[in-house]
Amino acid sequence: MKPRLSKLGEKLCASTGILELMDDLGVAMSGTEKLLMLGGGNPAGIAEVQAVWREGMQEIMSEEGGFDQVLGNYDTPQGRPEFIRALVDFLNRNYGWNIGPENVAITNGSQSAFFYLFNMLAGEFSDGTMGRILLPLAPEYIGYADQGLVGSLFTARKPSLEFIDKHTFKYHIDFDALDLSEEITAICVSRPTNPTGNVLTNQEVDRLSAIAKERGIPLMIDNAYGAPFPGILFRDIEPVWEEHHIISLSLSKLGLPGTRTGIIIAAPEIAKALSSANAVASLANGNLGQELVAPLLRDDRILDVSQRLIRPFYEQKAGQARAWLMAELDDDLPYCLHVTEGAMFLWLWCRDFPITSKELYRRLKARGVIVVSGHYFFYGMDGDEPQRNECIRINHSQSDEVVREGLRIIAEEVARGYGEA
Ligand SMILES: Cc1ncc(COP(=O)(O)O)c(C=O)c1O
Repeated sequence: MKPRLSKLGEKLCASTGILELMDDLGVAMSGTEKLLMLGGGNPAGIAEVQAVWREGMQEIMSEEGGFDQVLGNYDTPQGRPEFIRALVDFLNRNYGWNIGPENVAITNGSQSAFFYLFNMLAGEFSDGTMGRILLPLAPEYIGYADQGLVGSLFTARKPSLEFIDKHTFKYHIDFDALDLSEEITAICVSRPTNPTGNVLTNQEVDRLSAIAKERGIPLMIDNAYGAPFPGILFRDIEPVWEEHHIISLSLSKLGLPGTRTGIIIAAPEIAKALSSANAVASLANGNLGQELVAPLLRDDRILDVSQRLIRPFYEQKAGQARAWLMAELDDDLPYCLHVTEGAMFLWLWCRDFPITSKELYRRLKARGVIVVSGHYFFYGMDGDEPQRNECIRINHSQSDEVVREGLRIIAEEVARGYGEA
């Protein structure tokens, strides 16, 4: 039976970038088709990190009643009290944050936290005004784009570009173009940024924070890849917290995406509102991830796992992938790669490309290589910037064999595309 869909139903069922990405990811990772998966945001399986989670699982299993208690009980909608206590103590001890359990809300993945938060902080207000989320630097995470229940919630700004060498560039926030109209009710950035691997400088974050504070609106900082864990950033930054910040963390890129655990640290009113929304939509959260990670927060082992095992792994992968791709691409082509300061992606900009990035995606998929077309990351803006159709995002976290072969084919298709000028 084909159901009659409400307006909201139509919106949620529409074909979106994130759906295409997760479909590609699911097919590739299930192994039913032989695909080189350089799309999606699946973390790598790092043997030493996997061993940590296996050991944690064995501890849960061997504790008297431990396993039954984790699987057999619903937690509160806010999250697992022992986990929240361990997290709060960890953040206060290491970074002097001075937060309490009332500042924390756990959700089923940080993706769902953003869904609730964006729709709570923007959209239609009871006085008839419309609020929007400012993305001060586009391209920004594809997964936010379709989360607004009432129309598009985002207004994004073009970046300024710094050219570092012939084939390397970096995005910066263009503060001169950052007009904050009345309708802006929150600011949001991912740091490191998905898709580019950019890490906003401390000065950029301080400036955004000051702007948000002055306007009395929240600054949302999405740390899915960032500090203090999983630490997939290749420079040292101090995690900061202020009362008007909404900080998100996730267990996914620690290698635990299957546990669907997101963490929000915010003012108590916001954390409470989020837990209420979570109760309505989900009752409670999956608790296995919380149970696995809590002991590593209690003794700070999470920092060791992040800094000694995870960061160097991805840093090496990023450098290697970049070198392979550059070796395959003709030096005379006008391509540019974003500096890789974190996350698990290369952001390839094919300047003055004769075909679109969507067409490049299609050609690559036909050859068994999955990437993400860059146009999905430019939303909430007019659409006249040429970069929109000239970039692809390449995930470099899979095995060396897969990444190298995928990059070889990408270089071939890029050369073919340029050849059509
Ligand atoms: C920037 C960013 N934020 C949030 C998420 C959501 O992650 P999860 O729901 O697994 O916590 C992702 C996933 O890839 C991401 O890349």
